[in-house]
Amino acid sequence: MLEPARQIFPAHVLFLLATGCAGPAGEDSEKLAASTAKATTDRIATRTSHSATGAVREPEQPTPPGRTHYMGREIAQTMHWRGATWLMRKTREEEEHASRLMEALHVKEGQTVCELGCGNGYHTLRLAKRVGPSGKVLAVDIQIEMLKFLEKRLAEQDISNVEKILGTLADPKLPENSCDMILLVDVYHEFSHPEMMLAAMRRALKPKGRLVLVEFRSEDPGVPIKRLHKMSKKQINKELLPNGYRLAEEFDELPWQHVMMFERDEK
Ligand SMILES: C[S@@+](CC[C@H](N)C(=O)[O-])C[C@H]1O[C@@H](n2cnc3c(N)ncnc32)[C@H](O)[C@@H]1O
Repeated sequence: MLEPARQIFPAHVLFLLATGCAGPAGEDSEKLAASTAKATTDRIATRTSHSATGAVREPEQPTPPGRTHYMGREIAQTMHWRGATWLMRKTREEEEHASRLMEALHVKEGQTVCELGCGNGYHTLRLAKRVGPSGKVLAVDIQIEMLKFLEKRLAEQDISNVEKILGTLADPKLPENSCDMILLVDVYHEFSHPEMMLAAMRRALKPKGRLVLVEFRSEDPGVPIKRLHKMSKKQINKELLPNGYRLAEEFDELPWQHVMMFERDEK
């Protein structure tokens, strides 16, 4: 007979439970998540003077302590790089319709787009094909291990228009006024410094550039993801609008996720 958990959740959701992304919070997954957050902070503390490409940067201000809550929402722990294979699971296209998401983004050849919180690059590789050789993808993550996985995949597929950037919890290290789009898939709810990240991303957007949030729908109990890793539209608007963004477009055709596209609010 199956264990009780197996009777409730399919195999991929059990994996999520183990990696801290879905289902009810177990003590072990919370411990793993907490140790990840600490390890991430430690790593950043020792690496803030270098970019992922090795270029030396000016000394920086230390990252201030992170929040546990923001505007009534409890912030989720960072997904550990050890769970990265889940991001490449075979069922992902069927569950999330990533191809439909790509179409809805209307990315054009020659654009500069960013995948922020790129993980091991599930969407980055697709974006790289869309912008073509005359465009560029800035792939940002705070876990060097994720960027190394991405690097390997880029080499395997001979993709050369992706620039990897090791960000910090509060600073994605993006050049100002550089991005036609910044895409965050299953990432925003993990930000421990949401205001600083929103301000930095706003500075990085071109005047008509878009910040796109893709978040699992918390309004829908049928979406098999942990509560803290889901967000409602109401909460997303509550957090984005006072931080200098206006909602420009929504795409409601994905099975599990909201797609909310914001532009800079110049008012
Ligand atoms: C659940 S994974 C999603 C990865 C990828 N977007 C995807 O859909 O396959 C979340 C990623 O966001 C990254 N992340 C969390 N906070 C971040 C921050 N402040 N800046 C950059 N990346 C961050 C984590 O390290 C992790 O790789």
